[in-house]
Amino acid sequence: MSAPHSAAAHQRARELYTRTYISEPTLLVRAPGRVNLIGEHTDYNDGFVLPMALPFDVVIALGARTDRTINAVSEGFESTQFSIDDDPRKTPSWGRYVHGMASLMHLDGHAVAGWNGAIATDIPTGAALSSSAALEIAAGLATSTVAGDTLDGAILARLGQRVENELLGLPSGIMDQLASASGIKGCASMIDCRDLSITPVALCKDAQVVILDTGTRRELVDSEFAIRQQDCQDAAAAIGVKSLRDATHDDLQKLDDQRLLRRARHVISANERVLEAVKVIQANDSHRLGALMTASHASLRDDYDVSSPALDAIVELAETQPGCLGARMTGGGFAGCAVALVHDHAIDTFVQSMSDAYRAPAEQPAKAPTGIWPVAPAPGASIIN
Ligand code: GLA
Repeated sequence: MSAPHSAAAHQRARELYTRTYISEPTLLVRAPGRVNLIGEHTDYNDGFVLPMALPFDVVIALGARTDRTINAVSEGFESTQFSIDDDPRKTPSWGRYVHGMASLMHLDGHAVAGWNGAIATDIPTGAALSSSAALEIAAGLATSTVAGDTLDGAILARLGQRVENELLGLPSGIMDQLASASGIKGCASMIDCRDLSITPVALCKDAQVVILDTGTRRELVDSEFAIRQQDCQDAAAAIGVKSLRDATHDDLQKLDDQRLLRRARHVISANERVLEAVKVIQANDSHRLGALMTASHASLRDDYDVSSPALDAIVELAETQPGCLGARMTGGGFAGCAVALVHDHAIDTFVQSMSDAYRAPAEQPAKAPTGIWPVAPAPGASIIN
């Protein structure tokens, strides 16, 4: 499968708008997906993450309305229509992400206005590349821009996180939305999820990031996410800290429950790996970065229990390829994508041999085409001129 490409989504959104509303859109906005290089399940523990925005976007082509109605069509989905003033919990399916953003923006006192829109995306859904966070950020950008307002990336990101937490019941952190809203071209972003400060980190010069899409898709695992989050809160309470960000390896002795101990050990070591990753990237040490990624996968698999047969299989296969410096699952886990760091000189062979050799295992079949895509860090959400 060829790599998703955001220029294609721009074109398709524009055409869908013209076909649907028989006029030209007056505005196009885009918001990218993300891949997290290292630091998983740390964001809701006030910890550190190192994502980068992807060159795959959700794009909304739109035209302003004079009332407070939002009407949107999206390729391959039912259309959605609602008044911003209605309760977003009554809006079904993907429309709730769009309605939720507009509603929370309004309730928080930000300017909002209605629009007609057409949505296209190049981000595979359910693949752990944050397609829903990108939809939230694109919808927020659309709604504030038609109202003549400009919202900071951190504000849009916090609103998107609240849509997940308050309107969809998913207790996720802020990484996905902030990576989509505030990504920096050419850089990964080290985010301190306690104060939301962002440190741009230009990637190593001799290696590339490669997305490994297992073709498996996340289904019905949101309850597992909530259980992990609760485990972390329980572990922090047992240790006596506000969040696991403040815990150390010595604190692990205070945990009698072996499951809580493993969860806490993952979070403590994951935060350390992110901080070390930033230092080694700045020193252009791609070998050590790769080793940290591989250690991260082991911790997610063995201590946090969020990997899966397909993710383990693709990571193990990647690590046997010449020029692969390290690999790990990315995002929430259970299905979707992994990420590898591959030496520049080996990229073409890596892509070819992985595409030829990888097949999803029988115990976790693929639901979508698999894909191996080298990616460079893209800029965060923006208006398309
Ligand atoms: C999902 C959540 C994020 C984060 C990751 C795991 O993507 O939305 O907030 O917790 O899982 O790192």
